[in-house]
Amino acid sequence: MKLKGDLYVVDKNSPLPLYYQLEEQIKKTIETEELQPGDALPSERELSESYQISRMTVRQAITNLVNKGYLFREKGKGTFVSSQKFEQNLQGLTSFTEDMKARNLVPGSKLLHFEIYPADKDIRATLSLKDEELIYKIKRLRLANNEPIAVETSYLPVSLVPGLTPDILASSLYTYIENELELTIGHASQTVEAAIVDAEDQQHLHINKGVPVLLIQRETFLENGTPLELVRSSYRADRYKFKIDIERK
Ligand code: GLP
Repeated sequence: MKLKGDLYVVDKNSPLPLYYQLEEQIKKTIETEELQPGDALPSERELSESYQISRMTVRQAITNLVNKGYLFREKGKGTFVSSQKFEQNLQGLTSFTEDMKARNLVPGSKLLHFEIYPADKDIRATLSLKDEELIYKIKRLRLANNEPIAVETSYLPVSLVPGLTPDILASSLYTYIENELELTIGHASQTVEAAIVDAEDQQHLHINKGVPVLLIQRETFLENGTPLELVRSSYRADRYKFKIDIERK
């Protein structure tokens, strides 16, 4: 694989550092899809010869692009272009199924755990439940085009969402709530934080030990204010990013 076009040029008289110039050039080839996800990058030696710059400079540029998620290294094999991250706008209260369909990806779900039990104290408080009320605990692996994206654990009151089955959870929970139960989902409050993946999710998500994930907690309410769900999810930080559009008032 060779970088094409006018890519063999870095301007040694420019005030911009050489590693930065190379970094920008490689980034451009990824953004214009000249280099596609999975493509191998030329070796450090090839790049340093083509650009007439030191291997240390090349290494610095590559390391920066690895840290920014554009490239990934495989031991003994080389450096490759990463897949583009899925972007989710944080403004809309959407379901996983809707998010994936909006990107022309096929949503998928694998049920990992399904249980009905009397709510414990912290869940009771979040969902404003009376003592001993039954809740579902549902754990699902969410997929996009069969690729694992997130592990999602949801808690919902059985009285509010009756009749939930593993079959229904193979597709969209929100579709069932809105179309079958005819409830209106109103608003949610959501937090996003960084964490290191735990051993169980690491296996489901097919990522290495110690890799960062995005922990997302959503508390969703019906239009009339009744708490509907508490959901804790771990999203692959290498495949997912959140977007917020902000306005200066
Ligand atoms: C997102 C939300 C969850 C919600 C889920 C429903 O992942 N973070 O809070 O439960 O969507 O998705 P679906 O309707 O695809 O089952």
